[in-house]
Amino acid sequence: MKASDTKATLSFSNGGQNVELPIYKGTMGPDVIDIRKLYAQTGMFTYDPGFMSTASCESAITYIDGDKGELLYRGYPIEQLATNCDFLETCHLLLYGELPNEGEKAGFTKLVTNHTMVNEQMQFFLRGFRRDAHPMAIMTGLVGALSAFYHDSTDINNPKHREIAAIRLIAKMPTLVAMAYKYTIGQPYMYPKNNLSYAGNFLHMMFATPCEEYKVSPVLERALDRIFILHADHEQNASTSTVRLCGSSGTNPFAAIAAGVACLWGPAHGGANEAALNMLYDIQKAGGVDKIGEFIKQVKDKSSNVKLMGFGHRVYKNYDPRAKLMQETCKEVLGELGLENDPLFKLAMALEKIALEDEYFVSRKLYPNVDFYSGIVQRAIGIPVPLFTAIFALARTVGWIAQLNEMIGDPEYKIGRPRQLFEGSPKRDVQPIGKR
Ligand code: ACO
Repeated sequence: MKASDTKATLSFSNGGQNVELPIYKGTMGPDVIDIRKLYAQTGMFTYDPGFMSTASCESAITYIDGDKGELLYRGYPIEQLATNCDFLETCHLLLYGELPNEGEKAGFTKLVTNHTMVNEQMQFFLRGFRRDAHPMAIMTGLVGALSAFYHDSTDINNPKHREIAAIRLIAKMPTLVAMAYKYTIGQPYMYPKNNLSYAGNFLHMMFATPCEEYKVSPVLERALDRIFILHADHEQNASTSTVRLCGSSGTNPFAAIAAGVACLWGPAHGGANEAALNMLYDIQKAGGVDKIGEFIKQVKDKSSNVKLMGFGHRVYKNYDPRAKLMQETCKEVLGELGLENDPLFKLAMALEKIALEDEYFVSRKLYPNVDFYSGIVQRAIGIPVPLFTAIFALARTVGWIAQLNEMIGDPEYKIGRPRQLFEGSPKRDVQPIGKR
């Protein structure tokens, strides 16, 4: 951390002593005011629910400029990565800080590929779930359960354990998601095929059956790979912060990632792609494009509690760069599958156009986020709606683990322990039950 020459001074209107606070500069983005000693100096905490103005850590992984609509992984713009690299190169970049050269890429791909199978016992564990269980309920359980199967990579303080846990998680997530899917539809699990690419292997495990040959479509493979790249990391979002907080207690990496999966499930976060597609279905059922006006009216009426899902973002106050790339992929996939006239895609385009011109959305800087189009792409590929968030979790695993390992390797890391403003009852005495 580079200290700035400028210092912040906190003064009190009751004449209390001023407190001088150091300011640090990052390579880009807002400076931070260091308040770590504030409590010791003043006996006060800061108050920032939702972390609107709080940097919870130092990080060198992902940078977002929400006003410009810019997303960089380790300095590289997401547009360049999505166009010039594949997902495993992106994983290498996020984990180790640099894009691999050819030799490194081959070595990394082999390493991940060698860990794609899961312990055979996992399928018996999976069998305990109801067939109609939500895939995210299954994933939370399966990812947490990995710690019961891979005892040689559960010590978060051991760098070798952290490294192998990272590879195992990246390699096994597609296998687990595909197993969860096959289980819910009653088909046999397909084992990983290591001559396929990461995305191709996932498509194979999802859609192949033992009865016939399955040919991976290069367009769908590329589309899925792009979905993985776009979702790979997004700095200190809710699920990543959950992983960091969970991991800060020293728990094992599988347990920390399971916490991230659980957080991602929520409709305000990863569950938004599922919610966005369900919203499009609802508008479609109600009458399609002609009903957009009515729907937008409902969204603007605060008492309705209806939101335009796939719109708005805590950080982006401009078009989410991932949404642009996703829209491009969406057109490519629908073209490949002969679905150019897909009514849901048309509805999404019309909805987006109207929302982008509406004063409500313009004044609040609400733009489409990545989830607005990713649901349409996944549905076109044949992925069932309830599985969307599990695919997001698959892709985000590398970001979670890179952030977790960065935190553990940081000499300044401490267990995360926020404080509170207590608003409850002052101290009182328990009354005998007859007097309460
Ligand atoms: N539809 C309608 N109004 C919205 C929407 C939306 N999608 N998003 C924000 N607003 C309104 C809010 O009601 C608020 O209005 P007000 O100022 O009149 O009270 C204003 O815009 C600011 O919104 P906040 O809720 O304060 O923004 P916040 O940063 O807390 O929330 C969030 C961001 C949760 C993403 C929100 O925009 C939302 O719920 N969007 C829909 C769900 C979604 O698409 N989530 C995906 C996020 S991306 C991801 O996880 C990959």
